[in-house]
Amino acid sequence: MPLALITGASAGIGATFARQLAAQGCDLVLVARREDRLQALAAELLAAHGRHCEVLVADLASDADVARVAARIAALPRLDYLVNNAGFGTKGKYFHTDLAGQVNMHRVHVLAIVQLTHAALRRMVETNSGAIINVASVAGFTLSAGGASYSATKHWLNVFTEGLYLELRSSGSAVKVQALCPGFTYSEFHDVMGMDRAVVPKSWWLSADFVVQESLAALPSGRVIVIPGFRYRWLVRLLALVPRPLIYWGAIRAGRRMRRD
Ligand SMILES: NC(=O)c1ccc[n+]([C@@H]2O[C@H](COP(=O)([O-])OP(=O)(O)OC[C@H]3O[C@@H](n4cnc5c(N)ncnc54)[C@H](OP(=O)(O)O)[C@@H]3O)[C@@H](O)[C@H]2O)c1
Repeated sequence: MPLALITGASAGIGATFARQLAAQGCDLVLVARREDRLQALAAELLAAHGRHCEVLVADLASDADVARVAARIAALPRLDYLVNNAGFGTKGKYFHTDLAGQVNMHRVHVLAIVQLTHAALRRMVETNSGAIINVASVAGFTLSAGGASYSATKHWLNVFTEGLYLELRSSGSAVKVQALCPGFTYSEFHDVMGMDRAVVPKSWWLSADFVVQESLAALPSGRVIVIPGFRYRWLVRLLALVPRPLIYWGAIRAGRRMRRD
């Protein structure tokens, strides 16, 4: 049976990856902090698809917990997918917010991914099989006043994933890496962050089901950057042509609108 390890599996996009991969016949290792949520999901997937789920409770902002998850990745009998999905947003300007929250964001969005990806690629490259999906964001192509760390970590994740893609390609490896870049997606993300969803027009919202379907459907092609939804694909293309001063003007306006700080 194929085996997938998913971080941030207790809610939203991560739980949706778990459901879709289980439906495809995968056994799973579910990682997050909320054990009750992970246990409930494990029971649901066993009942619905007969798939075995291991629950691994870990805070990916903690060095010790990340090392424990990396050690588990190294010890698993096999590993077909690693989904680096855990993440969160913060509200407010960098210099007004709590420093611990900003540091934790870099720990979860950057350092944890560096370590878990290293552990996974070591074995995937050796067996010449497997795929890593890094859940980045459209924010990895944009800027927003009020989201400095969020945009910076997601830009990093896109560039890191493309760098790995080049290294794998230049080694002739069959291992796949993907940066999944969703736009606004219904999940618990905006509740955790404290953002009012009404400030974004309904037509810009995606379902987690659609986002995950687009990601998994793109895997066989080996496409490295996956942006679900034509609106967001066009937005990213357009932004690449816009002069920087205009980007800054838009980022300040968007920051005011979204973050209300
Ligand atoms: N929703 C959107 O609009 C959107 C758009 C673009 C990109 N994304 C990205 O999609 C990913 C998933 O977000 P989502 O929308 O599904 O949000 P969500 O519903 O809030 O889920 C976030 C998941 O991350 C886990 N997590 C957060 N901090 C963690 C930590 N310190 N250690 C371990 N797990 C942690 C949470 O689990 P516990 O709380 O149980 O630990 C939860 O399972 C994130 O990387 C986010 O940046 C979301």
